[in-house]
Amino acid sequence: MKSKTLFIALFLTIFSLNVFSQDKITISHQPYIQALTDSSLSIVWVTNKPAVAWVEIAPDDQSHFYAKERPKLYAARENDHVTYNVERGQKGLNATKYGYKTVGTVHQVDLKDLKPGTKYRYRVYNQEVLKHQGTRVQYGNFVATDVYSKEALTFTTPKPSDKVSFAILNDIHGKNDVLTNLIGQADMAKTDFVVFNGDMVDALISEDQMFNGFMDTAIKLFASEKPMYYSRGNHETRGPFAVAYPQYFPTSSGELYYMFTQGEACFIVLDGGEDKPDTDIEYSGIVDMDFYRVQQAEWLAKAVESPAYKNARYKIVICHMPPMGGWHGMIDIERQFVPILNKAGAQIMISGHLHKHVKQMPTAGVNFPILVNSNVNLVKAEITPQKAVFKVVDQQGKQVDEISLNPLR
Ligand SMILES: [Fe+2]
Repeated sequence: MKSKTLFIALFLTIFSLNVFSQDKITISHQPYIQALTDSSLSIVWVTNKPAVAWVEIAPDDQSHFYAKERPKLYAARENDHVTYNVERGQKGLNATKYGYKTVGTVHQVDLKDLKPGTKYRYRVYNQEVLKHQGTRVQYGNFVATDVYSKEALTFTTPKPSDKVSFAILNDIHGKNDVLTNLIGQADMAKTDFVVFNGDMVDALISEDQMFNGFMDTAIKLFASEKPMYYSRGNHETRGPFAVAYPQYFPTSSGELYYMFTQGEACFIVLDGGEDKPDTDIEYSGIVDMDFYRVQQAEWLAKAVESPAYKNARYKIVICHMPPMGGWHGMIDIERQFVPILNKAGAQIMISGHLHKHVKQMPTAGVNFPILVNSNVNLVKAEITPQKAVFKVVDQQGKQVDEISLNPLR
């Protein structure tokens, strides 16, 4: 009798554990800020189960987050660049693409018409979607970021014509300890944004591998509250999960090449593609990077004609692979991108890829300096109306090199 009771108790325990573990929706990868402009940004996060998703926004005033219901901005269809007007407080289904919320595990909410130079508080929220049965949708539990036992997450939109500080690192190849050390050398409280200049992992195999490789560390260190821009490296083009990459790192252009303005500087971020010829055994016949770079050059020729680029007092290019080194990808970058950048008065290109520090001053073919950052250093940059200074520091903070630029006018 006693053993029967024990058996039933054990069965109930296992049953309830199983039920509750199956029911539990969690945020498997915490929110991070992408595609920041002076008035818009995207917030991306991941749950372990399919769910509808939204962001609640509150001003950075003295009120408690629970003081009133905050505007809810829903994630719309995957990969659609749907925007919401935060300042007008639009909420609900009317803000979504074709009127639908997205049901998925990778959630992206794009906010627009934000005030420049303004701090906002936010919380991300999900409700699990269990199944669609006929016309009925069955929902499960909720999960949200904490605004009760700690302060809500925040982000701040940039001020125009302000001083800008940022940090660039690259070629981390999954070494979270190096990433942590380098971010430790940036004073993140005073840093406006971080650029990952490619090859953060060896290849993209799965969502977990990508987040374990660098992104969870980035989120823990800064990315929930400070924006991160990404220039895709050649290693992020490899592996079965590589095609999913754009879903996690949305940009303002909808492409992996894009531009943004911070302070008096216009940044052009390029995607150099792969380093070897497309037919190389390395790529198993799955890439067409030559054509991709031709398409990108067409975009670049138009981008440098935009007022944002033309009027900028500093013109900074970020591209994982530099136009040097003699391999096909780099030769093609020199052929496709450099003539446009030369003509458009680009002032500097910041690259990685070579795993060594190189400072190449202007040459007969390339009119601007190229700063190639190594895989163990950080570029700390400060741009003021008077000067743009790029300092290269190692993992202990010791300065390795420096380059500075004067404003164009
Ligand atoms: Fe690389």
